[in-house]
Amino acid sequence: MELLQGVLRSPQWGGFNPLVGSFEDAFAKYQGAEFGISAVNGTVTLEMMLACAGIGLGDEVIVPAISFVSTASAVTRVGAVPVFVDIEPYSFNMCPEAVRRAIGPRTKAVMAVHFGGSMAEVDALMGICAEKGVLFLEDAAHAHGSEWNGKRAGSFGLASSFSFQNGKILTAGEGGMVLTSDAEFAGNVRSFANQGRRPGYSFFHHFEAGNNYRMSALHAAVLTAGLERLDGQIARRTANWAVFLEEFGGAEGIRWQSIPKAVNRNAWYLVLGRVIGGDRDGFVKRVQAAGIPCTPFYPHPLYGNPMYVSGTAACRVEPCPNTEAYIRDAFWIGFRALMGDEGVTREVARAVRAAI
Ligand SMILES: Cc1ncc(COP(=O)(O)O)c(C=O)c1O
Repeated sequence: MELLQGVLRSPQWGGFNPLVGSFEDAFAKYQGAEFGISAVNGTVTLEMMLACAGIGLGDEVIVPAISFVSTASAVTRVGAVPVFVDIEPYSFNMCPEAVRRAIGPRTKAVMAVHFGGSMAEVDALMGICAEKGVLFLEDAAHAHGSEWNGKRAGSFGLASSFSFQNGKILTAGEGGMVLTSDAEFAGNVRSFANQGRRPGYSFFHHFEAGNNYRMSALHAAVLTAGLERLDGQIARRTANWAVFLEEFGGAEGIRWQSIPKAVNRNAWYLVLGRVIGGDRDGFVKRVQAAGIPCTPFYPHPLYGNPMYVSGTAACRVEPCPNTEAYIRDAFWIGFRALMGDEGVTREVARAVRAAI
């Protein structure tokens, strides 16, 4: 509240308020990157990242077939072609071997998504990217605070993109950020998001046809306060997940996401699972009826969206048997279900078990 009031009393509510810069620095540091460039949402940050990585017309970017649409549409919007690859069984993340098979002469980058907060196989993916000479990028919209062998999401490749949209674990209603540790790249992204301005020149000097994607200071105030609470919230969800599993016991019919050992810290944005041999939609309805935020998986893989089916937007689709199966039987439970005390968590686990 104090931070918000500070902004409201200041003459600068927009992106030039120093609070925006200080939130960028704090979040970049939190994730283990040197530079943060904030923006109005986590879709334009993907576009900023891809465009400034030199990805454009005729290039291909490899993405998982399961994600929110922005992972693919950002590739389309910069003029490139998304190449959809399958996810691994149970991790819900892109399969490194499928990525290796999909890389072709036009491939410029691989963009991993850390689905639900549990991280994709970054070592294997980065190894393949290095071997094939393509960029590694992260769509880390789900993974604030997640770690792979002690290194935070968003700090692995050339750059990463985060979202602070309303449903995310760190939110101001809307918002996004590109992170990078490459100073020149950071400068280009900043210029892109700030109408082509460059440091040291006048306000009316524009070096390229950038856009105004600046985050407002009101958003930065809310996010600064939220960032202070994030560690405690992740710790609470981590502890509650252990309680949940204990209470859930060995009930058959659900198989939960497997979290790789290297993920030593999971943001727990989504609890992911599959209904094995049962009626997924009936299960989800029963969980929802118990007041728990539960969603059936996406209704189709990314390549099932009308723009890709009709050919309005070009894409390439690799074989995706796991993806197709998950569309039929997977679901997620929102992170809020893990935000209660121990008693509430046990109740949630019992309600989920009863819904099978
Ligand atoms: C994986 C992924 N990438 C990108 C986005 C886009 O973020 P935003 O809603 O802030 O534009 C989302 C949003 O839900 C997402 O889930």
